Amino acid sequence: MRILTAGESHGKGLIAIIDGLPAGLKVNLDFINTELKRRQMGFGRGKRMQIEHDTAQILSGLKAGITLGSPLTMLIENKDCSIETLHKVVAPRPGHADLAGLLKYGFSDIRDVLERASARSTAATVSVGAVGKIFLREFRMNITSPVISIGGEVTHEGKVAKISEAINRKDTVGGIFEVRVSGVPVGLGSYVQPDRRLDARLSGALMSIPGIKGVEIGLGFGYAQRFGSEVHDPIYYSKNKGTYRSTNNAGGIEGGISNGEDIVVRACMKPISTLLNPLDSINIASRKPAKAAIERSDICAVESAGVVGEAVVAQVLMEVFLEKFGADSMSDIKAAYNHYIKRIKK
Ligand SMILES: Cc1cc2nc3c(=O)[nH]c(=O)nc-3n(C[C@H](O)[C@H](O)[C@H](O)COP(=O)(O)O)c2cc1C
Repeated sequence: MRILTAGESHGKGLIAIIDGLPAGLKVNLDFINTELKRRQMGFGRGKRMQIEHDTAQILSGLKAGITLGSPLTMLIENKDCSIETLHKVVAPRPGHADLAGLLKYGFSDIRDVLERASARSTAATVSVGAVGKIFLREFRMNITSPVISIGGEVTHEGKVAKISEAINRKDTVGGIFEVRVSGVPVGLGSYVQPDRRLDARLSGALMSIPGIKGVEIGLGFGYAQRFGSEVHDPIYYSKNKGTYRSTNNAGGIEGGISNGEDIVVRACMKPISTLLNPLDSINIASRKPAKAAIERSDICAVESAGVVGEAVVAQVLMEVFLEKFGADSMSDIKAAYNHYIKRIKK
C-alpha cells in the first residue's frame, strides 16, 4: 500500500491518494466527514477551525460507493485559500519547522515553509485513516483515543482548567493521548525483520504527527521501574476465549506481533509552538533580534492529535492486515481471514 498526501495550509486544498486498497470495500463518505469534523473539535482550538468545515470529495477509485482496487483520491478544499496574498513571515518560531526549513530549502519567506509544515495537512491524514477505520470495521476492529492528561492534569476538570489557564496566560499547553484498538487478531506484524515489527511501525506512524515527541507501547517507560515478575502478562487458556491474559502491559504487542489483546499506545504532544507572547527570535533578513512570528493558532490540540493518532494507527493496521490476508478483493481477504481465525481457535 502506498499513501501520499499533498496540499498547503492556505492553498486550494488537501489531497490524499491511497494506492493498494482492495476492491469491494463499501466506503461511507459521511463517516469520513464525521472523522474530519472530530479532528476540528476540542477546547483550545484556534480561529481557523471556525473558518474551515472540512468535507472530503472522492475523485477516483470508487463506483457506486464501492472501491475498484484503483487508487482512491480524496480532496478536502480549503475555504481560506489566501496563500498568494498572505504576508511574509520573517521571524522563525522556536519549536516550529520555520528556521530549519528556511535554511534547508533556501527560502527568504518562512511562509514557504509553514504552509506545508502546518498541521493542516493532518486533515488529509485523517481522511486516509477514516478509510482505514472503515476497512478495519469489516473485521470488527474499533479505534478510540481518550485524552490521558493535559499539562500534567489527569481529571476532566483539571484538563479544562489547564487549557483555560493557558488561554489566560496567552500561552499553550500539551498533553498525552492514548490510542486503543479492540478486536485485533493475533499475528499482525512480525519479528522476522526490524521494519516489519508492528510496534516499530506504530511508533513511527505516531511520531510522524506534527508535535508528537514521545510514544509508549503498553506500559512503555513504566517498564523501567518494575521487576519482570510484576509486568509481564501471564498466559491462560479457556475453551471459550482460547489463550488470553490477565493483564495487558504489553499493549497487545509481543515480539513485534499483535498478541490478540487490545492494542494500547500513548503519545505525548508538546505545547503548540506559536505563542501569543512570542519568544526571542531573529529577523532573518536583518539578523537583528525580533520576537517570533504570531500566526492564527491553537492553544491546545491534544484531543485533535488523538484523532490523527487514531488515523495513523488505522493506516498501519490496514497495511499489516493486507500484508497478511491478501490485498486485491474484500471477498478473498475475508475468506483468508475467516480461515485463519478458525485455525487459531482450533
Ligand atoms: C492537530 C494538530 C494541530 C496543531 N495546531 C498547531 C497550531 O495551531 N499552531 C502551531 O504552531 N502548531 C500546531 N501544531 C503543531 C505543529 O504542527 C508542529 O509543532 C510543527 O509542525 C513542528 O513540528 P514538530 O513539533 O514535530 O517538531 C498542531 C499539531 C497537530 C497534530
